[in-house]
Amino acid sequence: MPDFQVILESIYQDAINASDKGIVASYIPELEHIDKNNFGIHLRTSDGKSYGIGDYKKRFSIQSISKVLALSKAMELIGEAIWERIDVEPSGHKFNQLALLEIENGIPRNPLINSGAIVIADILVSNLKNPKEDFLSYLRDLTGDNTICFNKDVALSEKLTGFKNYAAANLLKSFKNLQNPVDEVLDFYFHQCSIEMSCSQLSNAFYLFANNGRCLQDKLHITDGQVKRVNALMLTCGFYDEAGEFAFEVGLPGKSGVGGGIVALLPDKFVISTWSPGLNKKGNSKLGMLALAKFTTKTKLSIF
Ligand code: DON
Repeated sequence: MPDFQVILESIYQDAINASDKGIVASYIPELEHIDKNNFGIHLRTSDGKSYGIGDYKKRFSIQSISKVLALSKAMELIGEAIWERIDVEPSGHKFNQLALLEIENGIPRNPLINSGAIVIADILVSNLKNPKEDFLSYLRDLTGDNTICFNKDVALSEKLTGFKNYAAANLLKSFKNLQNPVDEVLDFYFHQCSIEMSCSQLSNAFYLFANNGRCLQDKLHITDGQVKRVNALMLTCGFYDEAGEFAFEVGLPGKSGVGGGIVALLPDKFVISTWSPGLNKKGNSKLGMLALAKFTTKTKLSIF
């Protein structure tokens, strides 16, 4: 077995000394003032070990990483019916691109771009009694950590500036692919994206995808067939128009968020999470991607 702590330490040193740390997202004004010198990395192995270095216990806005957790909750609630409303193909475009949605009659390419995640949010709003509270409870159940919360300032900041998400939701509504009112669905979606977690909490929350659907608290949430699908979607769609690059350099299913987080995993082996707020041109964490590429190269642990 590779010495994980030594490998994480060398990755950490490279990251904190990097001259180009990317650019912090500013289209959600509340995220703009996060210090790009933060860097954390955390690894949880399937044999029960946990390694972390840097800012791995600091919480940040998980943003689009939440889309995977929302998808798994929707799978638990309505299963295959999801795929009547959302496709499973990579979009090859930015996360908030709208042209394909119009051309393809309101069927989002996949559940990890914004339009697809808004349909998933609609499903959760329809099927959960108290959608926001119940979704938080789901994350708390996955991790056994009751401190996981929304950041209401971030949710409000996105509500005030999220014009493209309003456009996507209205387009979905015009194609009858949104059952609830636009404002209600987006209120849920903005809160879901505003959830704050640390690298270690994210590794814990994603553990079920590396453990055949059984979470860290030993509860079975989704079937192993559903886990296969979530991981396939992360590999092919988790990084939008950079999904190919992530598979090429890292070779793991994973998901990024504009808060600078990335989670990736190797089934039956480990979950790894990074946080570095500076993004590259495609909106994914610049140093997070580099760190994960180094990790799979040094350990020789990837799905390929
Ligand atoms: O809807 C949005 O634009 C944000 N709440 C989430 C986007 C995001 O994280 C894209 N990922 N890299």
